[in-house]
Order: sequence, then structure tokens, then C-alpha cells
Amino acid sequence: MSSVSDILIAPSILSADFAALGEAVSAIDRAGADYIHIDVMDGHYVPNITIGSSVVKALRPHSKKPFDVHLMISPVDLFLEDFAAAGADIITIHPEAGAHFHRTLQTIKALGKKAGIALNPGTPVSILENVMDLVDLVLVMTVNPGFGGQSFIPLFGKIKAVRDLIAVTDHPVDLEVDGGVNIETAKLVRAAGANVLVAGTAVFKEGASGYEKNIRALRGHPV
Ligand code: DX5
Ligand code: ZN
Repeated sequence: MSSVSDILIAPSILSADFAALGEAVSAIDRAGADYIHIDVMDGHYVPNITIGSSVVKALRPHSKKPFDVHLMISPVDLFLEDFAAAGADIITIHPEAGAHFHRTLQTIKALGKKAGIALNPGTPVSILENVMDLVDLVLVMTVNPGFGGQSFIPLFGKIKAVRDLIAVTDHPVDLEVDGGVNIETAKLVRAAGANVLVAGTAVFKEGASGYEKNIRALRGHPV
């Protein structure tokens, strides 16, 4: 199990007020966020539409923390350069969103960015087998992608299996869990071996006055 100091919290701005996203990014930065998690959805790969690279670019001056950009779009290859130029630090893709995800990961690395691969609840860990050399982050989805506020799917065996795979990988890889993470499920996700926790609802639910308390609690600090 990771210690509290190893746990990174990545608030998902999907749950923020979209009319005031810049202020939301500054506020979660000040409240202790480690990464800023940005959910990009296209209404095609997932049944919801959010934001594109121009919004990511507009948000960039609001925080120096890494922008953790989760692309739920298909096709994805056409847009990688735009998100890299907009200021993404980590670009995470879904292997089902393109015909050649090895190439997609290669492109992200060639753009000088960290590459992430997301596993939907129905996607097996074995899909990582031939791409770990290209991967800086594995995102285990504990909801089906598309919406915030869904119920957590308990995939602890899967999280542990990814942790075991990372243990035999010869470079550092973040293990991120996304979907339905709240104070209760965060404990179990941390125990299963995740070191990056994405949380939308659980950070933003009470407005700005709760951000710092919620981030501390998700990390495992006493509140
Ligand atoms: C779902 C997104 C998640 C989501 C998390 O497709 O990838 O990042 O916003 O929201 P909560 O924490 O509310 O489940
Ligand atoms: Zn996400």
C-alpha cells in the first residue's frame, strides 16, 4: 500500500462550473491538486460532448500543475498535436478509439508528452502486454466512460494486476483510477495499489469551500 505522501489527486473539472472553468482550475491548484484531470468527450466514442483543445489552451495559464488530459474521442490521432500544443502534459487514450493504439502511443511520445492508456471496465489488462515500453500512465476506469457522478465498479483485482505489471516494468508508471472515487472507495483503491486518484463529484460537490478538505481526505489524510 502506498503511503499518503505518494498518493496524487487529480480533480476532474468535468464536475466544475463550466461557465467558470479558469477559476475552478486555479482554485483546485491552490487547494492541493497534484494533476488537473481534463475529460475530453466527442459524442461519438462516448455519449457526451465536453471540450476541445482550445479550452485546454485557455485554461493553461491558470495552473502550473500537470494537465492530465483524458481523451475519449475517436478518431484520436488527428487531434494529438493540438492537445500537445495546447499544454497537455499527460495524454491518455483509449485503445478502442483507434485502429492502431501502439502508433497512437508512439505519436504522443514523439510529441514529447507522457502517454497514458485507459482500460474501460470491460477491457482486459492483457491489452497492455505489448505497449508497456511506451506507457507512462495506466488509467483503470471504474465506470464506463462518458459521465461524472456514476457508481463505482469494484475492480480491485484488476487494479492489483496492473500494479503487478508495473512492478516488473523498467520505468516509472502512474496507476490512475477514474470513476466513482469518493472518500470511501478511495481507501480501497489506494489499498489495491493506485497512486493517482481522479475525482470529480467528490472534489466539487460542496463548491470551492470544500476543495481542500476533499482533496486531503481522498489522499488519506485525517480530516
Ligand atoms: C468519466 C470521466 C471521469 C469522471 C469522474 O468518463 O473520465 O473523469 O468525470 O467523475 P466522478 O468522480 O464524478 O465519477
Ligand atoms: Zn477521466
